[in-house]
Amino acid sequence: MQNTRSSFTGKIGFVLAAAGSAVGLGNIWRFPYLANNYGGGLFLLVYIILSLTFGFTLMVAEIAIGRKTGLSPLEAFKKLDKRFTFVGYLATIIPMLILPYYSVIGGWVMKYAYGFVSGQDKLMAQEDYFASYIGSVGEPIGWFLLFIGLTAVIVMLGVQKGIEKVSKFMMPVLVVLIIFIAAYSIATMDGAVAGVKYYLLPNFKGLTATKLMMTAVAAMGQLFYSMSLAMGIMITFGSYMKKDVNIEKSTHQIEFFDTGIAFLAGLMIVPAVFVFNGGDPEKMNKGAGLMFDTLPKVFDTMPGGRWIGIVFFVMVFFAALTSSISLMETIVAVMQDKMKVGRKTACAIVLGISLVLGLPSALGSSLWAEIKIIGMDFLGFFDFISNSVLMPITAFATCILVAFIIKPKSVIDEVQLNGRFKQKKMFSFVIRYIAPVFIIAILVSSVLEAFKIIEF
Ligand code: TRP
Repeated sequence: MQNTRSSFTGKIGFVLAAAGSAVGLGNIWRFPYLANNYGGGLFLLVYIILSLTFGFTLMVAEIAIGRKTGLSPLEAFKKLDKRFTFVGYLATIIPMLILPYYSVIGGWVMKYAYGFVSGQDKLMAQEDYFASYIGSVGEPIGWFLLFIGLTAVIVMLGVQKGIEKVSKFMMPVLVVLIIFIAAYSIATMDGAVAGVKYYLLPNFKGLTATKLMMTAVAAMGQLFYSMSLAMGIMITFGSYMKKDVNIEKSTHQIEFFDTGIAFLAGLMIVPAVFVFNGGDPEKMNKGAGLMFDTLPKVFDTMPGGRWIGIVFFVMVFFAALTSSISLMETIVAVMQDKMKVGRKTACAIVLGISLVLGLPSALGSSLWAEIKIIGMDFLGFFDFISNSVLMPITAFATCILVAFIIKPKSVIDEVQLNGRFKQKKMFSFVIRYIAPVFIIAILVSSVLEAFKIIEF
């Protein structure tokens, strides 16, 4: 296998490919609503600190493991230590849990893109439009099927390269558009400054240890999700990486991209929500629908808002599509390897599982709204299990493997193939002492909170 692995061309090729997988709904949909829920500036601060220490350490470790072994996550964990074989499997299950609900949200994006194209922008800007939309049965399912079907067809035909090309071109435009929308809404809305303050400045008033802990739980889950960590993706990317690429530098670049886009998306959405709610943080619209609730209202205030809405949602659609393709591709590749099935069969199986797991998420606000698993609807539950339970477990195991079995030095040596590893002291320290303790603390508290043993 090893010698048939292709490599990324050039140094920037790797960064772009990894950033392309990292940037998706996590940045544009998930980050802003979490920031909004968890007190704005406080969440932002915690997130950035975690990203620079934790996220950095874990990403370097994963990329280095991938490049050193040249293997898929499944094989890599097994090779490094037999007892860690299960981590490879765990890492493979995670994308399978994410893909279905990711596609439900991908469907929401398609619906909104279509809504703007077909001139329903005024309708979508109405209060409670989103709630009534996801409260309906047929449409959300239809769009979900369309999104996951499209993903499957692309992966089946192996034409993702074409999509990725389009998306690479769109990504910079999307960034410019987000900056423009943020600037416009802040400049024109009354009271936006207070909203910007809410988003940027941490408010420590009334901060309790539990609250801080839950913020850290959310921030860490988001970090994994957004940077595609703790599910073998970066190991896979690392295995394709050439030996002359600097891992430390690339990691910084990916982090910068990913966090930058999330930050800007937050700036576009959070202050606007603040304004729409009359600046009362207690009344802030909480939850997963934030982007879909808020942006149509923002676009409605803009001249030519309908066109901006079209361009925006079409681009987010492409960002979501490249991520869902890459999620599906990961699972398909493992199945081809392990179960010795053809590509088409593997795609069909993944599609089948996605339908079974995705339909409950698509129905979670309508037909099955009454059904709650540990207090969550289906979408929330899948999101929770993957981000707040399984990913921390995978991340913890990765840290233990690197810190105490293969030793930080093996990662450091791999990084040092291209010059000095500047932050190696921090790396060793975080991976040995900070990360494992912290991840366990977070895992335990998120599970306790889910079962309402502690209350946030
Ligand atoms: N990081 C992606 C986002 O922000 C989501 C994601 C998680 C992902 N894991 C992935 C994308 C694996 C591709 C591959 O939306």
